[in-house]
Amino acid sequence: MNTLTQKEMTLLQDEKKNEEICIEKYNKYASQASDPQLKALFQELEGKEKEHLNTINQMLSGTVPTMNTSQQKPQFQGMSQSQSTLPQAATQSLSTMQSQAISQAQAQPNASNSSQSDAYLCTDALSTEKFISSTYNTTIFECKDANMRQALNHIQKEEQEHGEKIYNYMAQNGMYS
Ligand SMILES: [Fe+2]
Repeated sequence: MNTLTQKEMTLLQDEKKNEEICIEKYNKYASQASDPQLKALFQELEGKEKEHLNTINQMLSGTVPTMNTSQQKPQFQGMSQSQSTLPQAATQSLSTMQSQAISQAQAQPNASNSSQSDAYLCTDALSTEKFISSTYNTTIFECKDANMRQALNHIQKEEQEHGEKIYNYMAQNGMYS
């Protein structure tokens, strides 16, 4: 059982919120994307974000992941009892500006140019990954446990890989200039 510091708890609660927003966003964007290839990419990323959320939830329940070096994925040995109470999460999550951007995207059901609409989804997804990657940087620096740092580092690396996949899709489809 790993007892989290108040600071670790607050930061992990923020990451939990961020991952939940990512899952919701990729789910919506997969249904909104016009190009089947982009739909598949968003669905793939939604699955990865669900794994991240699971890892964060394990950490919040006091389980320290140990990194499996062959798979480079966090492993959990033996679930422990969850904390009786968690502090109220801090408000640091996706910016209001990004939330507004999502609402705007949802408000254009019949975009005349589907490619332009897909480009918009990609741009927003890319900025979300960039933001979330930066939040992990802060969280990692506040962790007292080396395994926690490694697991969070693994997640951050995957967020950067998501950004790379979106970037590559945009570049291949003439959306990134
Ligand atoms: Fe994630």
